[in-house]
Amino acid sequence: MCTIALDPLRWPTGLPEHRAAMRPAGSQQRWPGEEIEMELTLAIRVEDAVKAFGAKTQSPVTRLSGPEMARPRGAVALDRLSLDVRPGEIFGLVGPNGGGKTTLIRLVAAQLAPDAGRVMVFGHDTARDPCAVRAALGRFGPVAPGAGFFQKLSPVENLLYGARQFAARPAETRRQMFAILRRLGLPQAALYRPMEGLSRGTQQKVAIARAFLAEPRLLLLDEPTTGLDPRSRREVQALIRELRDEHGTTVLLTTHDMLEAEQLCDRVAIVDGGRLVALDAPAALKQRLALTAGRPVTLEDVFLALTRQPTLAEETDE
Ligand SMILES: Nc1ncnc2c1ncn2[C@@H]1O[C@H](COP(=O)(O)OP(=O)(O)OP(=O)(O)O)[C@@H](O)[C@H]1O
Ligand SMILES: [Mg+2]
Repeated sequence: MCTIALDPLRWPTGLPEHRAAMRPAGSQQRWPGEEIEMELTLAIRVEDAVKAFGAKTQSPVTRLSGPEMARPRGAVALDRLSLDVRPGEIFGLVGPNGGGKTTLIRLVAAQLAPDAGRVMVFGHDTARDPCAVRAALGRFGPVAPGAGFFQKLSPVENLLYGARQFAARPAETRRQMFAILRRLGLPQAALYRPMEGLSRGTQQKVAIARAFLAEPRLLLLDEPTTGLDPRSRREVQALIRELRDEHGTTVLLTTHDMLEAEQLCDRVAIVDGGRLVALDAPAALKQRLALTAGRPVTLEDVFLALTRQPTLAEETDE
């Protein structure tokens, strides 16, 4: 287990990349000590990850004639995507709908296995050692729309049930639970009502509270603030920063809110068509485009400049 908290701003040598470059093409062979080194220096490593869905079934597009016939069957969600996330980093994934963000989060959570390539979480291969990966996630999967809860139970009952899996000091966990729910603006009346009767945004807050209570080493958040009102969104962002600053938690999140990506994330990856099209600190991404454009730009400008409008055929394929 890695206990060393590295300063993300003083990213070290880049040695793992160097070694990967020296490996023969296509070789999965590790150099002696490389896995240990990865565990100490990287929270997540995604290497040439490929994931396709429904490749064996015939999609509507394959029944078309003309140039569309040449398109592969099924959806290629990730297409040889590689990236690293450093310990203690708040890392953002942005990109068009269907770009592959959720698929990447699910690969990192060991909920899906890559068709090719590999995904490492704190040095553990998600395909070979999913239990170690789930432990790093605090035993819960990513916070995502429609997170699993007992719908007949209330938020408090669901959270206390979840907390039984990790709480060493139940009284303290209970106090923290009410503090987080209050900060997220959960109305008192909602605390003891069945989940099934709560609004989508309120259910999302309960999912966020559960993830924070577990204080995971790696927090995966798929569009955590989508559908939340502005005050709640700010509170979630503040909680994410606190968790990182106070517990050294690494955070991988997706968002369609470019301002959120800019203000919250240390680095942002733009993923389009399952490929990585850019990866850097938000300021650096903007600076690069500003040089070409000859004027100040926003992260939304960068997004629009680097991502494509899907074709009609691609939309039909979704
Ligand atoms: N379970 C699945 N079965 C079939 N196709 C899938 C499945 N999950 C994802 N896909 C396809 O994989 C591609 C990537 O989807 P993904 O959900 O990862 O995109 P996304 O970037 O998260 O999009 P959004 O911004 O809309 O959430 C899409 O073409 C999608 O239709
Ligand atoms: Mg998604």
